[in-house]
Amino acid sequence: STSLGANGDLTGKHVIVTAGPTHEPIDPVRVIANRSSGKQGFAIAAAAAALGARVTLVAGPVALPTPAGVARIDVETADQMLAAVESALPADAAILVAAVADWKVEASPTKLKKSAGPPQLRFAPNPDILGTLGRHPDRPRLLVGFAAETDDLLANAASKRTAKNADWIVANDVSGDVMGGASNHLHLLTADGTEDLGAGSKENLARALLARIAQDLA
Ligand code: CTP
Ligand code: CA
Repeated sequence: STSLGANGDLTGKHVIVTAGPTHEPIDPVRVIANRSSGKQGFAIAAAAAALGARVTLVAGPVALPTPAGVARIDVETADQMLAAVESALPADAAILVAAVADWKVEASPTKLKKSAGPPQLRFAPNPDILGTLGRHPDRPRLLVGFAAETDDLLANAASKRTAKNADWIVANDVSGDVMGGASNHLHLLTADGTEDLGAGSKENLARALLARIAQDLA
C-alpha cells in the first residue's frame, strides 16, 4: 500500500510496555515474586518495534534478551516500575503487561534469622500503575491493560477496564499452563465490545495486538 501510516505503521509513535513480574523485598536477601516470565510483554515490545515505534520497555526481573530496537529499563519493585513508566511519558500508547505485585512487604533492613522463627510479614498496598496512568495528566492516548484470570475472565476484565480508566483490556485465561508457557489465548475488550484475538504463540498474538493498535493510532 502507498498509504504509509494508515495501515500498520507505528513510525513516530512512542509506545511504553511493562513486562515481567515485580520482586518485593522481605529483607536484603529475600523477595516475594510471581510466576510471570515476561515472554508476552517482551513479544509485544518486539512487535511494536518491528512496526517502527520508539519503544520503552520497563522490565521486572526476567531472564530474557532485549528485543531489537527496544530501549529497556530494568526495575525490581512496583514502586520502581511506576517511577520508570512516569519518567518515560509522554507516550502515544502504553501496554501494561507486567504482573505487578499487589502488595509490598514492610521489609527488614537486616537479614531475618531462621533462629528467630517464622516471620510475621506486614504488607502494604502497591501503587496501581495502570490505574495511575488512567488518571494521569499525561495519559497516553491509547491505554491498554492485561487481565490475567482463572475464573470469570471476560466479566472481571470488563470491570478492570472501567475501574482503571483503560481504553482496552486484553483478557488472558491463565487457568491452564500459560504462566511461563509459549502460547496464549487472548480476547480484546474495548468500549465497543469483545474481539477474539485467537490462540497461538505469544509472538503471533503480540503481532495481532500491535496491528490492532497501529490501526487505532493511525
Ligand atoms: N496493574 C498495574 N499495577 C498494579 C497491579 C496491576 O499496573 N499494582 C496492571 C497490570 O499490569 C494489568 C492490569 O493492571 O495490566 C490488571 O492486573 P491484574 O493483576 O489482573 O488486576 P488487579 O487490579 O491487580 O486485580 P486482581 O489481581 O485482584 O485480579
Ligand atoms: Ca493483581
